[in-house]
Amino acid sequence: MQVVIFDNAEQVAAHAADWVADLVANKPSPVLGLATGSTPISLYKKLVEKHKNDELSFKSVSSFNLDEYHNIDPSNPQSYRSFMNDNLFDHVDIDKANTHLPTCTDTQNPREQGLKYEAAIKAAGGIDLQILGIGANGHIGFNEPTSSLVSKTRIKTLTEQTIKDNSRLFNPDEYQPDTAMTMGIGTIMESRYVLLMATGENKADAVNDMITGALSAMCPASALQMHENAVVILDKAAASKLKDQGYYQWADKQNAKLNAQYGFYHNY
Ligand code: GLP
Repeated sequence: MQVVIFDNAEQVAAHAADWVADLVANKPSPVLGLATGSTPISLYKKLVEKHKNDELSFKSVSSFNLDEYHNIDPSNPQSYRSFMNDNLFDHVDIDKANTHLPTCTDTQNPREQGLKYEAAIKAAGGIDLQILGIGANGHIGFNEPTSSLVSKTRIKTLTEQTIKDNSRLFNPDEYQPDTAMTMGIGTIMESRYVLLMATGENKADAVNDMITGALSAMCPASALQMHENAVVILDKAAASKLKDQGYYQWADKQNAKLNAQYGFYHNY
């Protein structure tokens, strides 16, 4: 796992945006894995900026989102489809027909929908770069603690903590879903690269468990210890519980030297 620590959230977003731009520049039909939540909003702002400055086009990009609430109308402002439209898709030149979320209505079978989503990812050639945030309990996507570390896209019941954490986004009289469709941990592990962004002190324990804790279904993000190309980008607050911060910073400088000498190499 490569751990990169920045002074602030703005730098985390800028670095993540450079990863996306690098992928799009180097692969003819790039496939992005996208995330919702507050953390990637700043990344999407940077991507929109790059697009407006003519530095980045999404014409060749397809995307697969990590998760979507179960049985939510896409036009509902709380749907992750609306989130993606508002924060990214409506502001760039992506073809919306190439943007996918793991949807499931009440009349559809969640198991069949999960299998279809997995097949669609495969048909697109697999995910090149999966953007991730992390829940305060170590979840990735909506893979809550005890999720199978080899799980695939399916319906999950959210934990009380996740419902509470996300309640800030709902009005008091608004219905808040407690189930969601989510890529599994196994789906995420099949991405060629994983880029996990975490900012703020409330993520510090989960970040420490993910990087230095045991590989355990109790911290779903710890599965990334087994990923060949997992990059974790943190601000100082999210990194604050890590013991070996000096090492990560030193290793990052060494990597910069290696990249300057040999060039970046991403095996997309
Ligand atoms: C949500 C999403 C995750 C996200 C996490 C953290 O429940 N399903 O994909 O990473 O919570 O969100 P935030 O970035 O708002 O802290």
